[in-house]
This record gives sequence, structure tokens and C-alpha cells, in this order.
Amino acid sequence: MKSNKLRKEFLKFFQEKGHALLLSASLVPENDSTVLFNTAGMQPLVPYLLGQKHAQGLRLVSCQKCVRTKDIDSVGDDTHLTFFEMLGNWSLGDYWKKESISWSYEFLTQNLKISPSKLAVTCFAGEKNISKDIESAKYWQDLGIPLDRIHFLPRENNWWEPAGETGPCGPDTEIFYWTGSDAPSNDINNPKWVEIWNNVFMAYNKTISDSYEPLEQRNVDTGMGLERTLAILNNFDNVYEIDVFQPIIKQISETSDLPYADKNIKSFRIIADHIKTAVFMLSENIAPSNLDRGYVLRRLVRRAIRYCRFLNNQDTIILKTAQTVIDIYKDIYPELETQKTYIFDQLKQEETKFGHTLEKGLKELEKFSLEQSDDLTDSDYGKKAFYFFESFGLPPELSFEELSLKSINFEDFSKAFQVEFTKHQELSRNNSLGKFKSGLADNESNTIKYHTATHLLLAALRKILGTHVSQKGSNITSERLRFDFSHSEKLTLEQIKEIEDLINLKIKKNLTISMSEMDLNQALAQGAMGVFQSKYDDAVKVYTILDPEEKLGYFSKEICAGPHVSNTELIGNFKIIKEEAVSNGIRRIKATISF
Ligand code: ALA
Repeated sequence: MKSNKLRKEFLKFFQEKGHALLLSASLVPENDSTVLFNTAGMQPLVPYLLGQKHAQGLRLVSCQKCVRTKDIDSVGDDTHLTFFEMLGNWSLGDYWKKESISWSYEFLTQNLKISPSKLAVTCFAGEKNISKDIESAKYWQDLGIPLDRIHFLPRENNWWEPAGETGPCGPDTEIFYWTGSDAPSNDINNPKWVEIWNNVFMAYNKTISDSYEPLEQRNVDTGMGLERTLAILNNFDNVYEIDVFQPIIKQISETSDLPYADKNIKSFRIIADHIKTAVFMLSENIAPSNLDRGYVLRRLVRRAIRYCRFLNNQDTIILKTAQTVIDIYKDIYPELETQKTYIFDQLKQEETKFGHTLEKGLKELEKFSLEQSDDLTDSDYGKKAFYFFESFGLPPELSFEELSLKSINFEDFSKAFQVEFTKHQELSRNNSLGKFKSGLADNESNTIKYHTATHLLLAALRKILGTHVSQKGSNITSERLRFDFSHSEKLTLEQIKEIEDLINLKIKKNLTISMSEMDLNQALAQGAMGVFQSKYDDAVKVYTILDPEEKLGYFSKEICAGPHVSNTELIGNFKIIKEEAVSNGIRRIKATISF
């Protein structure tokens, strides 16, 4: 089956069941500021899932462009993609579990002609305040799914959480397809069971205080990944065999005059996936930059450029790939064709800019290879390799390749790199799992920078809004800071700009941060700001951001456990991305820094 047919069949099926057809919303969320990109079909519908009336009615169906970059490092394997299309249908307080489950079953078995013997489902196992979903299980059983193919799983598997911090959520039932040619296993953890459809029963709203409030209306939100479903229906063992990828793979092979085989496979796939995503982002006027969406775009393009280095005719691959992507999708997404000039200009510019960085990185590597001596330990190698990777964007493979040309034993280098990389990954995973929920999230360097940025923010707020401002809460991750403070009015755009400018000025001045330990009374006597004073021991640490041009000789002085950066220039550009009310008299700012 081809993509056009699956899209059409799905949309028609639900239209015939009274659903209004929605065009794909843009990748950039208009209704949900908790995420950078739409990561699911439901994202553009958040206000309606929360109760706002939708002009097109209570039943909706769409095929939505989505971007997920959380697993970017896995792209190149058989399944992971950063851009995908999600087919979905919604009930906004209208039908509920019974209809949703029976229609999914009907579509899969009648329209897609999947044999019921190749299906298994999972349902929510229940927890303290939310009951086990026996209702869904019963509907599946009534349709003929045998009991040993109905599994109850906990929250990790069968609960849809909002992509951002807040939003509609609830238990789900997931449908799995047996991809093996042998008899289906009763063990749902067998990797040959692949999830193809997720039906979420959205009955809750997750709030900022991490509690779940029942929604006034019960919604259904379903999502079926187009690419994965096509791969399954066609019996392909990887997603790159489907019709929206094959022309790209073929084109890269022709341009580079290399077969899509062996060690080239990974490079071909990474280029195909990343440039496709980049083309869709560019078609919505996003520009590569060091911030937010622009940064995600930049990473994708640069990673693709780096992987072109392993192929021939590397200078032409990116643009030719972009052209192929446009040709594949322009009938469905006409913005690709209308934005073509912009897409090409931006890709060309990024190639030129990155060319310089890449050259610099390669030169550094050359220097390092001359300096290297027998005294270097594995850990030294690992740190160095990771430094090349982080600072110049050199993929380890590229570093190994260059070093091997100089007869350096890169086996050790590679192993040691992995050790550093794993350490780094664990830190980011812990972050994204929200393991470190409050205050200082962990010791990762970005987090430390955010911590110091928070001190700059409090000082700037007091300077610009007045000394009534005090800290009411703070939450830092390696990707953003969130700061609650006392102030009763919404900030104006001018005030926001003034605050940003003042902070960026202080950052650029390369101010030193000093720390001294003293007893609490002394700290307070020195004018140090303290947040939860009762919590402090008698001896406290005071962090001061020194600025000789300020009347007091410093810009900020706070009692704090740290750690902080040693000078402000290490922080990078500061930007407020959101300002809103939390409760009466308390405002919240979310801000990012680009490194
Ligand atoms: N929102 C659900 C998902 O994306 C349907 O899987």
C-alpha cells in the first residue's frame, strides 16, 4: 500500500462516520505554547479538548504533520524518524470507548484487511485513583480479540501524558500488529509486536501542580503513525522502504554514485530523514539559529551535512534531497512548493556557515593528533572526542576516520568516547524524565548556567519592576528556566524587552561571580536576597555577581547553595519565551539561553 491510499482511506472512513476533515495544522503550535513543535495530531486541538467549542463540530479527523526530535540519535535504525504524519480521529465530548474501539477494529480488519489473528491490544491496568480499564477490554473481547491477546499494563505503557508540562491526558488502549511470519506470541513484549494505533480516553487535565483534574467533557484522541503503518502493511522490515522514502534513497544513491548498502545505509537514512524534516520546518518560515525551533532545525541540517562527508559529491546531496522531498509531498503540502526559494536559500547558507565550523574542528583535531602521546589515558581520549563532538559538531565516526588516517589507535578513543557520551545521555534522560523536579535539576553545565541566569533575572526584575519583586518559585532544567515572582500586572512587551536587554548586557560584560560563606545574619545584613529563609542553616553561601559599575559594586547578591558559573559570559543569550499569571499577584516567566 502507498501513502496516498492510506491517507485517503483513513480520512474517508471517519468522514463517513460523521467526522469533519481538518487540514494539517502547521508544525509550529498555535494553540499550545508548552511544546516547540506539534508532536501529535491532538496538539492543535488542545483548547477544544479542554472544552472550547470547535467550529467544525464534535467529531474530527486529520492527517497531521508532526516532529519529534527526542530520539534523534536513534535515527538511522529501522524505525526512528524525526518527521512523520499522524492519522487521527477525535471525539470532543461526543462518542466514547465503545465506538472508538469498534471503529478502529473495523478500519484495520475491513479496510486494511488485517487478519484479527495478527492483532493484540493493551489496556490501562489502573492505579490508586484511576480504575483499571475493564470497559475497553470488554469491548475488545466482544469484537473477538481473545483474552490472551488483551494485556493490562501500567502508566508507563498505557497512559497518554501531555507533551509539555500541562494539558489533557488519560488512559489509552493500544493496538499491536504481529510482524513475524511465525505464529504470534502471547508475550506482548516480544519485539515482533509493533504498536500501530493508540486510542486515548482523555478524561483528565494535568495542571502545573502535577495533579490530574477530571475534564468536563470526555474526549477520544487517536493516533496512527502513517509511516510505521505503511511499513507494516507492506511487510517491510524498516520504514525507509515505503514510498515517501524510496525516491530520496534512490536520489542519494545516484548523486553519490554509491549503493544503499553496508556502511552507507546509516548515512543515507540520516540525510533522508533530517533533510525531510528540515524542508518541512523551512516551509513554515523557521530559520536556522541558536534558539528554540531554529536550533532544532540547525542541528538537523548540520547532522545531515556531516553525514554527507562519508559520501561522494557531498556538496550537491543536501539540495538534491530537498528537491526530492518537495516533489514527493507538494501535492499534499503545497507550502513546500511555494516556499521553495526560501528553503533552498536557507539550506545553502547553512551549508556555507557550517563549512567554516567544520573546518575549524578538523584543524583542532589535526593539532590534537600531533600532540597525542602515550601518556594519554582512555578517559582523556573520551573527553577530547566528546569535546570535538560538542564544540564543533564532529561526529565521533568522523573523528575516528581522521585519526585513523594518522595511524592513531582509535579503538580506545571510540570506547572512551562512548563512556563520556553515555554519561551525558544519562543526564539528559534523567532530565527529560523529570527525575529532578524542583530547583536545581542536576549538575550538568547547562543547568548551572540556567541557575546563574535565574539570579540575573531576579535582579533585573527588581531593577525594572521595583523592589516589591521577590522569588516565589523556581524550576530549572537543562533546557529552560521557570521563575515565579511577586508582581500583580502583566508585563508589557517593552518591559520584557528591557529585562532581556539588561540581562544580556550583564552577560556580555563578563561579570565575575564570587562566593563566600558566612552566617545567615551577616548575609542578610549585607543585603543578600534569601528565598526560603527558614530553611537555611546558620552558615550560608552567598553568591555575588560583581559589577563595579553598579552603585553597590554588585548586580546580584543571593543566599544560595549553588553551584554557579564563574563569569556571566559563559551563559549565552537570554530570552523570555513566556510571561503569564500563576495566581493572584504571582507571575511566571519562562526563559531560555542559547549556548
Ligand atoms: N495522542 C496520542 C498519540 O500521539 C493518540 O499517540
